Amino acid sequence: MLYKNIVSALAVASLACSCAVSNEGVTATDQNNFSLDVLHKGAEIQSTMYGLFFEDINYGADGGLYAEKVKNRSFEFPQALMGWKTYGKVEVRTDGAPFSRNPHYVRLADPGHAHKRTGIENEGFFGVSTQNGAEYRFSVWARQASANASKIRVELVDPASMGETHVNVAADIDVNSKEWKKYTVVLKSTMDVQRGLLRVFLDSPASVDLEHVSLFPVDTWKGRENGLRKDLVQALADIHPGVFRFPGGCIVEGTDLESRYQWKNSVGQVENRPLNENRWHYTFPHRFYPDYYQSYGLGFYEFFLLSEEIGAEPLPVISVGLACQFQNESQKAHVPVKELQPYIQDALDLIEFANGPVSSKWGKLRAEMGHEEPFNLKFLAIGNEQWGPEYPEHLAPFVDAVREKYPNIKLVGTSGPDSEGKQFEYLWPEMKRLGADLVDEHFYRPEDWFLSQGNRYDSYDRNGPKVFAGEYACHGKGKKWNHFHASLLEAAFMTGIERNADVVHMATYAPLFAHVEGWQWRPDMIWYDNTRSVRTCSYYVQQLFAQNKGSHTLSMMLDGKPAAGNDGQNGLFASAVYEASEGVYIVKVINTDSQAHNVSVALDGLADGQVIAKASRTRIQCDELDADNTLDNPTRVLPVKEEVKSMSGKKALSSTVPAYTVEMWRFDLN
Ligand code: AHR
Repeated sequence: MLYKNIVSALAVASLACSCAVSNEGVTATDQNNFSLDVLHKGAEIQSTMYGLFFEDINYGADGGLYAEKVKNRSFEFPQALMGWKTYGKVEVRTDGAPFSRNPHYVRLADPGHAHKRTGIENEGFFGVSTQNGAEYRFSVWARQASANASKIRVELVDPASMGETHVNVAADIDVNSKEWKKYTVVLKSTMDVQRGLLRVFLDSPASVDLEHVSLFPVDTWKGRENGLRKDLVQALADIHPGVFRFPGGCIVEGTDLESRYQWKNSVGQVENRPLNENRWHYTFPHRFYPDYYQSYGLGFYEFFLLSEEIGAEPLPVISVGLACQFQNESQKAHVPVKELQPYIQDALDLIEFANGPVSSKWGKLRAEMGHEEPFNLKFLAIGNEQWGPEYPEHLAPFVDAVREKYPNIKLVGTSGPDSEGKQFEYLWPEMKRLGADLVDEHFYRPEDWFLSQGNRYDSYDRNGPKVFAGEYACHGKGKKWNHFHASLLEAAFMTGIERNADVVHMATYAPLFAHVEGWQWRPDMIWYDNTRSVRTCSYYVQQLFAQNKGSHTLSMMLDGKPAAGNDGQNGLFASAVYEASEGVYIVKVINTDSQAHNVSVALDGLADGQVIAKASRTRIQCDELDADNTLDNPTRVLPVKEEVKSMSGKKALSSTVPAYTVEMWRFDLN
């Protein structure tokens, strides 16, 4: 019986999908004979093999994963009232502010007439969206601006409503102190609103000062107040990622050193984390987002916690003292090597923040933030897409300092932005010379590149650093958006990674997130608007590999050679692994060809009487190569799983793999 199964730890659902897969009507005339050695286990596959790369691009953090709904909540954007409208008598001030690193606040004063109003109104990120029946926690730091008691009124508003009132829900707050204090109220939405507004009115003759105006859903991931969007974290957890790289990407480097990501600014009391520019606001002038900044509300503490909760090894990336080299030709943009000490100290302090005892300065801060136990950081990446001799020159003193103090931390260097070529060839030996443990390779490449890379890692130096395929995605020629064909070729490429798991220790698709109204870069793995999210075909490919990565490689040959899409291999790519904890064998065959192909996999090394006990087959397939899941049709392309009872008792697998199909077999032996 055919049944459909979303391959997820949590979800098993029957779904109506126009891309449902069956073998009915699929015929092929050729025969592709694989042999799989079930006796000899190969290399151990690292737990970090398949993971996630997070960057605050495409409104990935503020406006995305970070569930804050108020934009410019601390009035710290260079235009202090960006994102806000004001009415009546509103003044931006800095005297006597409660948070030294966020000095701006607003004073609301009597408009001068009982019928007039003073207030501020926030537009949110593409609207302040609320869902009927859901609760939202409003909070604000406030003080009376005079000796008299003051009052504010908070409203969630739907300006598009044709109803008698625009007001969705409202609450009054008495500001009862001349000292700064946090006031909180929970608002229950009475309607679904996509493009709502948050309004805060002065509701007394006496003036009031307001700072850090915030609105979060109550129902965040694990119910945290400074929380993350639950649906998005769930999507990450459902992959079963082995590693979590953060916070970027180019934002680590900064357009200039001033705008680089500084982890120390992202920890401690959330109200006192200073704002940072986000380079993606202006990187692409044709997709310009002038209101894109980093609040750092989602900071390094939250990243470590998230890694822990989704079961992934944290992999922070820090600045090597080189500002983005794409954006800076002059060496003056970078820190001279002899002045690198503060950057190196940042690296050492970060390790202390993650792993240090509570008696240490940074370990103490971690404990105060709520995590007494160390985060058990094992990896640290230094530099993002750097190149030229300046990179090894800058990296060397970091390596020396970290090795001396923390010899067990594995260091990740980079081979630059190119997948091959002069810089790439220069940097790999340099990384080996410096003793990097892993090298981060990036490739955003078209179809033919992915088709040509099946053997990429077969010839890599087994005595050098290991590979971290840290950013990759198939960018179709003339089709730089998510579609099934791109994900199919990513799957083909991943079989080569898997086959070479002795040298490839990590791989993360990129970028991870994109807001449909705020993206700068695509394709991306997960898309969302303010209330919904969708998992793309690439997501399901990543999930399939991550959930079925196995513990050991197995040798599987097609007529004596690895199947890597080579001449005479009919566009087939394949890999096989063994999962020791379950005693399960897993075979992945990717048919990138436009024709179906017959595949048989003979099991070599079976003991006497040994046969397949139980087998299942999962396919990701779609007749329309350009199709993908969307917010309106999120189940267009899904993994489809079926038990294959006819395989029981056999000594070989056999299948007719349809054109353009990701196919995976899981079986155990008696
Ligand atoms: O993933 C988008 C960008 O691509 C990253 O920030 C950068 O590392 C790469 O160039």
